[in-house]
Amino acid sequence: MEQYVIKGGNPLVGDVVIGGAKNAALGILAAAIMADEFVTVTNLPDVKDVNILLEAISETGAAVVRDERHTVRLNGKTIGSCVVDNSYVKKMRASYYLLGALLGKYHHAEVALPGGCNIGSRPIDLHLKGFRALGATVSIEHGMINTSADELVGNHIFLDTVSVGATINIMLAACMAEGKTVIENAAKEPHIVDVANFLNSMGANIKGAGTDKIRMTGVTSLHASEYSIIPDQIEAGTFMVAAAATRGDVLIKNVIPKHLEAISVKLMEIGATVEEFDDAIRVTSDHRLGHTQIKTLPYPGFPTDMQPQIATLLALSDGTSIVTESIFENRFKYVDELSRMGASIKVEGGNVAIIEGVEGFTGAAISAPDLRAGAALVVAALVAEGYSTVDCIHYIERGYECFEDKLAALGGYIEKIPVDDERAVQKFKLKVG
Ligand code: UD1
Repeated sequence: MEQYVIKGGNPLVGDVVIGGAKNAALGILAAAIMADEFVTVTNLPDVKDVNILLEAISETGAAVVRDERHTVRLNGKTIGSCVVDNSYVKKMRASYYLLGALLGKYHHAEVALPGGCNIGSRPIDLHLKGFRALGATVSIEHGMINTSADELVGNHIFLDTVSVGATINIMLAACMAEGKTVIENAAKEPHIVDVANFLNSMGANIKGAGTDKIRMTGVTSLHASEYSIIPDQIEAGTFMVAAAATRGDVLIKNVIPKHLEAISVKLMEIGATVEEFDDAIRVTSDHRLGHTQIKTLPYPGFPTDMQPQIATLLALSDGTSIVTESIFENRFKYVDELSRMGASIKVEGGNVAIIEGVEGFTGAAISAPDLRAGAALVVAALVAEGYSTVDCIHYIERGYECFEDKLAALGGYIEKIPVDDERAVQKFKLKVG
């Protein structure tokens, strides 16, 4: 097991290149196995969630050829099993996309019930409602979701809650269904559009992705394609916040600034400078920032996956900020850790954080409670006076590629060392002074 050791206080300065979007990659990899020809996916992030899904895909018998770190070639022609029950997959939420993909292609799928970050109850009733609407039967037995259909027929499906996962899963299940499918109240996140574009590049007929009404006409087969995944909105946003929090100056490259607007607007509102270029964004700050109110919302609103990072920044800003989490019910677990570094945050009713900004944090031994909160705590440690250790970094590695290397290249004092290795901590301290 490994942890980060961090010395805070150095502004992040320089350029960082953002990788492909994890959440788009997960939908795209599942979609790729629906073709019986080789599909090439580039700009693939080399993160744990993606690698676990690729392992699960190869267990179905599909060909998975990792030509290089950020490129994979997949071919679903050799799939021999529609059962996905590997112990890793149970820990990863997006394994449920294999349900939609296998059901859509073979009319049968059995996948272990998904886990994922523990940020509140995460039902999948809407995914299953969608499958049923297409004519499938669904049952849950012994921890497995079992779905099958004699035939899948397009339908009009209304999602009671805006759900990224359900929207993608229903697109997967419906793209080869007989006739027309309409998904109403669909999620509009950039990765929905990316998965739809990818499916269309394989011959699917999907219109309206990126709006709340997706219209699809089923096709009989999907074919070879080569596709580059969009940049990761949340990785980019995390570096934007890290730049602002450390009073740094970072040019964040390979991004789509439009996807970052909700984050840019809030950073500018509290006093940071944000400059947009065609495919880059620069965030600069040289002073203590101000307070604001933020509510997480489905895209194009402020992303819930950026909530812990922005709350960490606001905990250092001047005045009282209020952050309301409206997507997940249990997403403030990191507040206890942040408080140990000196933050003053009160959580009310489980979903509202009242943040009294403090002048600074002090280093502490802290633990990442989930993926995005883990990243936020790393940002906190990069600002804090003195040394911190952050353990449970396996959460962070689920979604950030070479996080510590990218931060270190910007001047952050951070290193990955074995847990409980006091000598490694001492060595780090000697090195950074
Ligand atoms: C995806 C992202 C996650 C992000 C979230 C919201 C992936 C792999 N993960 O998660 O990083 O935080 O979108 O942007 O892309 N809900 C139901 N029933 C369902 C499905 C969802 O009630 O069947 C509810 C959830 O409890 C939650 C809300 O809908 O309150 C949104 O969840 P959803 O958009 O589905 O999140 P995920 O797809 O799990």
